[in-house]
Amino acid sequence: MKNRGGFRSLKFIPDDRKIADLWIAPYGAAAVSAAMESGITEALATRASSPAQLARLLDLHQESTESVLRVLVAMGFAQQKKTNFNLTPDARAYLVPSSPLARTAEFWKHFETPEHRWVLRKLKETTPVLQTFGDGWKDEPDENPSVIQAAAGMDSIIKAPSTAVVRSGAFKGVRHVLDVGGGSGAFAAVLTEHQPETQVTVLDLPAMCRQAQAWVEKRDAKNIHFHPADFFKDEWARGCDAIHFSNVLHDWPEARVLELLKSARATVEGNAKNRGRLYLLEVLRHENRNGPLMATIFHMQMQMGFGGAQYTRSDFARLCKKARFTEPRAVARFGYYTLLKAYAV
Ligand SMILES: C[S@@+](CC[C@H](N)C(=O)[O-])C[C@H]1O[C@@H](n2cnc3c(N)ncnc32)[C@H](O)[C@@H]1O
Repeated sequence: MKNRGGFRSLKFIPDDRKIADLWIAPYGAAAVSAAMESGITEALATRASSPAQLARLLDLHQESTESVLRVLVAMGFAQQKKTNFNLTPDARAYLVPSSPLARTAEFWKHFETPEHRWVLRKLKETTPVLQTFGDGWKDEPDENPSVIQAAAGMDSIIKAPSTAVVRSGAFKGVRHVLDVGGGSGAFAAVLTEHQPETQVTVLDLPAMCRQAQAWVEKRDAKNIHFHPADFFKDEWARGCDAIHFSNVLHDWPEARVLELLKSARATVEGNAKNRGRLYLLEVLRHENRNGPLMATIFHMQMQMGFGGAQYTRSDFARLCKKARFTEPRAVARFGYYTLLKAYAV
């Protein structure tokens, strides 16, 4: 892997939203084509319905149906009134197979794409078959292609947001960060380069830690430590005054997010002068859960794939309160990412 060093040499970090939009676009298109093939658009043309009503009528999975509906709203093809969804005039004309102006035939090639087939399968799985992010390399040896590929993909996504939020000064004054599910070590590399006085410990599954360590050593990064562990089962590293989760909580349903936040609260160390801090770097959905478009598609991927979610700020406020953290505040933003910060209470 080349070019891991030298984040400092970058003068400014351009907004990456166009890249994110491009990356996620095939899944947005798949949400629309799957809504046509599954009967969602046809049913909505007959009457406005809630996700539960549609799921019952069409024998679909309710949460997956809701995810698709929210993508349609974010695209401007549907509207939400209270719990019901209906189609906009253009969707009614073009996306309903029985409409005289239907554009369904234009999408026939699209129906063959893996993204379309995946979304359709997930809609139809009334008992969802969920993956766990990390299962691919949980017990795997070194140089496992799936760990290298996953680490490279995560690294690619998170380098720019990490660099931007670190440069905002949001981590000033932190002595030692525990980066939980730290993945490729990108955040650790960026933070220790920007703030050489700060230590970072990356907690991740052993195979991912080995991969990250190899990359970190190549770029001669200092002050980075590794704590290979299963964050649900094993002890977390002690002695840290801040805990950081980046793109980790979205992989899990609420109950598991709460477990992780409670472990964070039990681990983070602070005192009256330097209170223990919690940082969350995530793509947040709007409070009404219908935007921004990229976040609704990202949510659909997380919900269908892992039973996870792109949470809203108030979801995190509620969960942080339960785990005994203060209400999280947005302290930095980059592209679609928000960095939330809370304190241990
Ligand atoms: C979506 S990645 C995020 C990685 C990194 N924080 C980033 O922003 O690029 C989630 C990370 O959680 C790790 N993970 C998943 N299950 C885990 C577990 N049970 N214990 C420790 N780490 C786990 C994965 O190996 C992966 O590196």
